Amino acid sequence: MAEFRLPKNSRVKKGHTFAAPEGARNVKRFRVYRWDPDAGENPRMDTYHLDMDTCGPMVLDALIKVKDEIDSTLTFRRSCREGICGSCAMNIDGTNTLACTLPIAGIRGDVKVYPLPHQQVIKDLVPDQTHFFAQYASIKPWLQTQSTAPPDKERLQSPEDRHKLDGLYECIMCACCSTACPSYWWNPDRFLGPAVLLQAYRWIVDSRDEMTGERLDDLEDPFRLYRCHTIMSCTNTCPKHLNPGKSIAEIKKLLVERKAT
Ligand code: SF4
Ligand code: SF4
Ligand code: FES
Repeated sequence: MAEFRLPKNSRVKKGHTFAAPEGARNVKRFRVYRWDPDAGENPRMDTYHLDMDTCGPMVLDALIKVKDEIDSTLTFRRSCREGICGSCAMNIDGTNTLACTLPIAGIRGDVKVYPLPHQQVIKDLVPDQTHFFAQYASIKPWLQTQSTAPPDKERLQSPEDRHKLDGLYECIMCACCSTACPSYWWNPDRFLGPAVLLQAYRWIVDSRDEMTGERLDDLEDPFRLYRCHTIMSCTNTCPKHLNPGKSIAEIKKLLVERKAT
C-alpha cells in the first residue's frame, strides 16, 4: 500500500513546553506551530499553559500574551483586533478563521494554532500571501469607467444597485476561504480561488463599472473560474459569514446568460 509522509525536514516535531505561573488556577493549554527559517530545524509545536484569569477573551489575546510574557520570538500578523483588517487569519482548532474574533471559551480542550494551510510559511504563523494578492490585483479591483465623470458630483448609484454589493463589500481579503478550498490547494497558480472571485463579482455587479464584459471575458477560462466544483468549504469557513461559493455560481450564471443572448 502506498504510504504518504511529509519530507523529513517538514515533519512537525514536539517543541518546548512552558508551564503556567505558580498559583494559576484557571489554566488553558495552547499548542502553537513554530518554524524559524534561519534555525535550519524542523517545524515544532510549542505548548504554552496560560493563566486565563490574566488573559483577554480571544485567541489573539492569548498569542499576544505569549509574545509579551513568555516568548517574544513568536511571530504572527495582527493589526485591528476587531475582524476588519484580515491579517490575523490562521487555522485554529481545525478551522481557518480570525484569531481576534474567536473566543477562547468556545474551544474545548487544547487550542491548536497553525498558519493558514497550503501557503508557504515565512515564519511561525505568518504565511506568504504574495501570490494571493497578485491574483487579487489581476482582477483590477477598482472602478473602471470609459464615460466622462460628472463634473460636479460622484458617479451615483440607486439604493437597489447599492444593495447588490451587500455580502460582497464586507470581504476583508483574509484568505480563510481560499486556503480552505481543495481546488485552490491543487491549482493555486491557475485557479483564482474564492476570495478573489468574490471580489471579481463585486466589481461585475457594481452598476457604476463600465468594464463588465471585459471582466467576464477575463474569467471565462477552465482554470481561473471553472476549477470551482462547488464544494463550499469557502462559504463554510468565512469568518465574516459571506458566501463566496454563491458569488462564483453567479459569475458562471452570467457567463451562461451572455452566451444565450
Ligand atoms: S470571503 Fe470571507 S473568508 Fe474569503 S477572503 Fe473574504 S472575508 Fe475572508
Ligand atoms: S465552492 Fe468552489 S471555491 Fe468554494 S471551496 Fe468549493 S471549489 Fe473552492
Ligand atoms: S487583527 Fe485585524 S482581523 Fe484580526
